[in-house]
Amino acid sequence: MSAVSRLKWGVFIYGESAYNGRGRVPTFEIIMSARSIKDKLIRPPIRWVGGKFQIVRYLLKLLPENFSSLIEPMAGSAAFFFALQPQKGILLDINEELINYYKVLRAKSALLISRLMSLKASKHLYYEMRSANPSDELERAVRFAYLNRLCWNGVYRVNKNGFFNVPIGSRLPKKLWDKCHLRKCARLLQRAELYKGDFEETLRYCRKADLVFIDPPYPKGSKSGLGFNRYSSIRFSIEDHYRLANSINNLVDKNVYVMVALTNDEELISIYPSELNKTVWKAGRP
Ligand SMILES: C[S@@+](CC[C@H](N)C(=O)[O-])C[C@H]1O[C@@H](n2cnc3c(N)ncnc32)[C@H](O)[C@@H]1O
Repeated sequence: MSAVSRLKWGVFIYGESAYNGRGRVPTFEIIMSARSIKDKLIRPPIRWVGGKFQIVRYLLKLLPENFSSLIEPMAGSAAFFFALQPQKGILLDINEELINYYKVLRAKSALLISRLMSLKASKHLYYEMRSANPSDELERAVRFAYLNRLCWNGVYRVNKNGFFNVPIGSRLPKKLWDKCHLRKCARLLQRAELYKGDFEETLRYCRKADLVFIDPPYPKGSKSGLGFNRYSSIRFSIEDHYRLANSINNLVDKNVYVMVALTNDEELISIYPSELNKTVWKAGRP
């Protein structure tokens, strides 16, 4: 089976903790020469629970030869988008503060970056920002970036009222951001359409030969114990996984390339069409 036809039905399962023990895990020289890897792979501008930067090299190996737009309907830190640097992307997420941050970074990068570079890591400022509720887009983006940079483990978690409630992490780094890196991310975002919303609507507009990378939250209580679904005040549920499985069926009928990242949890996998190809990768040492 060719790589392309496999990708039409690609499910990538992860969540196992052991190194696969088969020696070196394949690297992605096939796509980029080893020397250029460092220059070309751009890290996302934020930290995110479930972010896929660590496994982007595997994902890149599995790409179809050609595709039109890259669509991430559950973008989070959009690790795939920033690494792949497609000509055209669509990034969507239910988290309004996240999408606002990307929009401001795209439209007012100089202003935002200069504000961020003027900030120092401070416990006092962290809690002051956390309790603030600015309405201005720029101030919201500054707040989002600052909390994301210093919070515990990069977790974005809100309470039932949608209020960010993560404590500060243990480190107060001297350097909070790299100006050049933020500028690169801002330039890349010029190629993206950005939307706040639910995945289902966006998936309806995908066209033949688009590439969709779907990376849903895992419902709390899944047997794998990996459940984390508190990125917004609306929790991602098992019913949402059924909705997603239904959308994936429609995408495949339209010849859209679909890549799905799931945790290796039997109950969860059983929701998705059984004819999907499965690639198991293991988290751990690359
Ligand atoms: C596992 S994270 C995605 C991580 C991303 N691939 C990365 O590299 O950072 C799941 C994302 O789905 C988003 N999300 C949750 N429910 C959603 C929904 N109904 N529609 C769209 N996005 C949703 C969350 O806000 C979160 O950012």
